[in-house]
Amino acid sequence: MDLHESRPRLFLSEREAQVWILSDREALNQWCELSRFLSPEESRRAELYCTVRDGKLFRGRRGMLRVLLAGFLGCRPEEVGLTTGAHGKPQLADPGNPPLYFNLSRTIGLALFAFARGAEIGVDVEHRSTDVDQSAVGGVVFSPSELAAMERRGDDALGTFFRLWTRKEAVLKALGVGLGGTADARTLEVSEAPPHWEVIVEGRQTGGEWTIRELNLGAAWHANVAVVADGFTCRLVSSPAPTEQKNHGN
Ligand SMILES: CC(C)(COP(=O)(O)OP(=O)(O)OC[C@H]1O[C@@H](n2cnc3c(N)ncnc32)[C@H](O)[C@@H]1OP(=O)(O)O)[C@@H](O)C(=O)NCCC(=O)NCCS
Repeated sequence: MDLHESRPRLFLSEREAQVWILSDREALNQWCELSRFLSPEESRRAELYCTVRDGKLFRGRRGMLRVLLAGFLGCRPEEVGLTTGAHGKPQLADPGNPPLYFNLSRTIGLALFAFARGAEIGVDVEHRSTDVDQSAVGGVVFSPSELAAMERRGDDALGTFFRLWTRKEAVLKALGVGLGGTADARTLEVSEAPPHWEVIVEGRQTGGEWTIRELNLGAAWHANVAVVADGFTCRLVSSPAPTEQKNHGN
């Protein structure tokens, strides 16, 4: 992505979801240039981070989100109008026609930005080192079939946990509710019959058919993207692929 090109154009094919990767390294390299695209409210938010590094990462990520959205919308990054849904999901004030939907997720080492036209989208990424009590968290958020999958997990218990976790979070984020917005995340079931995915909440089918894909980001991360429509292809964009950063300091 050439930030010196004032209006890079980006294209989404019909029924295509794109997931862009921004490594922390890249965000920290470009944060200064990217931060000029932020709104005053976003700049104020960047100031609230406890560490300088986290503030720079927020600026870099938010600036890159604006660059990508502007590329799809055909405007300048600073002109992108952002608002939030009822449960805090960022969305476009004017999503265009067909509407452009997006979502983002961040973890140690990288952030993902997901885009689709005409259908809501959610994405979630977790670093495998994330400190998590699998039994305690699983017991609170996993459905009966997810708990059964945990029982059958084989050697890679942590991998199974994060695959289920990121899939569930991606679905919740596509719905815009997050985990805080559902009465009981255990009532959300994701069907296991790809390519025809269904999401059942409290026994009722939600959103018709879905497209849900696990993303391959290498051994250190687990990620899923969910689109509230069937038949989408999912393309990972941006290179080089993220590399494991041993030293997370700046
Ligand atoms: C709000 C929520 C989406 C945050 O998820 P998270 O895993 O902490 O963070 P992620 O990096 O994946 O996503 C954060 C981004 O999601 C977006 N987001 C915020 N609220 C959202 C919502 N209701 N729906 C969809 N996306 C939302 C934002 O863009 C946010 O980034 P930003 O603040 O820089 O703009 C919500 O699902 C939540 O609170 N989850 C609980 C997470 C948890 O308990 N994790 C335990 C780890 S095992």
